[in-house]
Amino acid sequence: MEKLWAGKFHGQLDQAADDFNAAIRIDSRLVAEDIQGSLAHGAMLAAKGIISEADGKAIAKGLQEIAQDLESGALSIDYACEDIHTFIEGELTRRIGEAGKRLHTARSRNDQVALDLRLNLRKECGALKKAVEDLITVLCNKAETYADTIMPGYTHMQRAQPITFGQHLMAYGMMFLRDRERIGQCAARMNVSPLGCCALAGTTYDTDRYMTAELLGMEGICMNSLDGVSDRDFCLELAADLSILMMHLSRLSEEIILWCSWEFGFVRLSDAYSTGSSIMPQKKNPDIAELIRGKTARVYGDLMGLLTLLKGLPLAYNKDLQEDKETIFDAVDTAKACLSLMAPMVDTMEARPENMRRAAAAGFINATDCADYLTAKGIPFRSAYKVTGDLVAKCMETGKTLESLSLAEYQEASPLFQADIYDAISLEACVERRKSQGGTAPEQVRKQIQWARETLKND
Ligand code: ARG
Repeated sequence: MEKLWAGKFHGQLDQAADDFNAAIRIDSRLVAEDIQGSLAHGAMLAAKGIISEADGKAIAKGLQEIAQDLESGALSIDYACEDIHTFIEGELTRRIGEAGKRLHTARSRNDQVALDLRLNLRKECGALKKAVEDLITVLCNKAETYADTIMPGYTHMQRAQPITFGQHLMAYGMMFLRDRERIGQCAARMNVSPLGCCALAGTTYDTDRYMTAELLGMEGICMNSLDGVSDRDFCLELAADLSILMMHLSRLSEEIILWCSWEFGFVRLSDAYSTGSSIMPQKKNPDIAELIRGKTARVYGDLMGLLTLLKGLPLAYNKDLQEDKETIFDAVDTAKACLSLMAPMVDTMEARPENMRRAAAAGFINATDCADYLTAKGIPFRSAYKVTGDLVAKCMETGKTLESLSLAEYQEASPLFQADIYDAISLEACVERRKSQGGTAPEQVRKQIQWARETLKND
């Protein structure tokens, strides 16, 4: 295959160097965007009289036919080409002759590839956002089912206060709502066109960059040509957003793994998202959750790779930048795969409320409520805390719980205790009374669900 720069070169590129240099196995993923960008560029060149109207028409028709033939399978990508830009331009010229050679006027592969990648990632952001929304919807539905289901809430992995499973699930709902917002903002910020920055310095032709941007549905243009061809902030930003998203998925995975252990027994995963062991018949392993947790490392690696790729690069374009694509595509694909499995895994996951309740009843997690009871009777919280602490210590010595102490034992600790203490420290009461905004009371959980669903209706 003849190189674009063949004119000035006498020797052939070494085969190994040629393979090393080639990008088509990776950037063929940009084929639709490459055609889309070329259509806009050709239309602008014709509109500005830089090429003839007839050439403009031939270019548009040729590109559309290439797109159709790729779609139908009549044409397949030639992987001997250096990159997707070379393939499309070569195929166009093969089909329409001279006019095809005019398409690259006032353009370079440097601005072309920067454009293709922005267009592609803009589309991927849409798909990612939708996948995050599907997961949020699943979490809202689950949280609704378990809005009243009591479980222990933890701090330091120690039972702390009773909460509802719905509240716990909606905490993840909130995290993913932020991810959704971040991805949307990232897509909006990348939606400006580098096309027309050319190799690095702009062009002598009388182009209209705003026109191509508008044809591509972009909000504006990169204002500096050097920046336009060398900026990959949009890749970095997406990789950072996806790293945060993966961190959330990983935390949820970690909890699912704990919850389905024998030690917790809080949830049961569907057989569709668990595996067995080849030698231990009793095992049901949460492999999918573990893999999501594991794949988080890949996405962090992609972010680090991109940061490192960019940190020492002088302006403007350097071939190092070709490495951006494999990295960001990996982050996108990994996040998409993890989202598409997390949603149905959570959707088919069943809670085991008996076990959650048993765990909640065992750890003095109503001690705060016992102290609050005394405070309500008029003594300062610190004193109430001391009385309750002594009661807990006594329970621990005697193997009792706060529920099983007799009223006499309570009154020995403080005469303020009355028979209504038992209602005050019931797990239901503990949960229902935490109705501060955003609290764990079922009515507040339902409000969160409603808020999340409303938020999903907005862009
Ligand atoms: N394959 C290249 C990339 O992905 C396209 C730009 C090539 N530009 C160049 N001057 N060699 O970055």
